[in-house]
Amino acid sequence: KNDMNGDLPLKGRRLVITAGGTKEPIDPVRYLTNRSSGKMGYALAEAALAAGAQVTLVAATKRPYSPGIDRILAPSAKEMLAAVTEAMKTADAFIGAAAVSDYALAKPFEQKVKKISPDEHLTLDLVQNPDILKTVGQAKRPGQVVVGFAAETENLLPNAEKKLASKKADMIVANDVTAPEAGFDKDSNLVTLLQPKQAAITVGPASKLTVAKAIIDQLVTLLDKQ
Ligand code: CTP
Ligand code: CA
Repeated sequence: KNDMNGDLPLKGRRLVITAGGTKEPIDPVRYLTNRSSGKMGYALAEAALAAGAQVTLVAATKRPYSPGIDRILAPSAKEMLAAVTEAMKTADAFIGAAAVSDYALAKPFEQKVKKISPDEHLTLDLVQNPDILKTVGQAKRPGQVVVGFAAETENLLPNAEKKLASKKADMIVANDVTAPEAGFDKDSNLVTLLQPKQAAITVGPASKLTVAKAIIDQLVTLLDKQ
């Protein structure tokens, strides 16, 4: 255990954290996105910095952040995967808090899509994006810790348990995004931390910064166990 570091339990540790809802281009003036604000990922970056970590925040959404954080903007899932893959080469841990779009256009339009007639339908051909968390989980080196989120609207814990296994994660933050005190663009959250062969830990309802600190506390325990 790293008791020597006192109130900086992540001193000397490098963390990669993703945040925000990705933006998948449709044409030069439009994109597909989701309701994620990035607040939870940015709060995790602040909590990790306060715990002494070197933080790379790969963000799809712009928000204010402390100068000690190394923020890389990555609007689309493909850009996020590239930035994460590079940063993970030297990282001790990954936290995937981003709401990564599951789909992107097979081929974004090169020019602005124009209306032709009032009754025409426009069909977009969508293909699945790479799964960043799963990619990081599968490429995990000994000693690296991988944390993901599960954003659910039903069957929270069973769905989140499945993601714990399928993503090869060390912890999943199960998040019922329809709960009144949780979810997209709220300042509070209510989550359950799931780890293999461990009792679930409920955190909140509390501010996203308080929830972030609890997630970082568990990450410290996981890193110290490695
Ligand atoms: N995630 C990711 N890349 C994707 C999709 C999801 O890295 N292309 C990550 C998210 O950042 C989150 C976790 O996977 O940490 C779970 O995301 P979620 O949307 O809840 O699950 P999915 O695996 O995408 O499954 P589904 O949306 O079908 O529930
Ligand atoms: Ca998804």
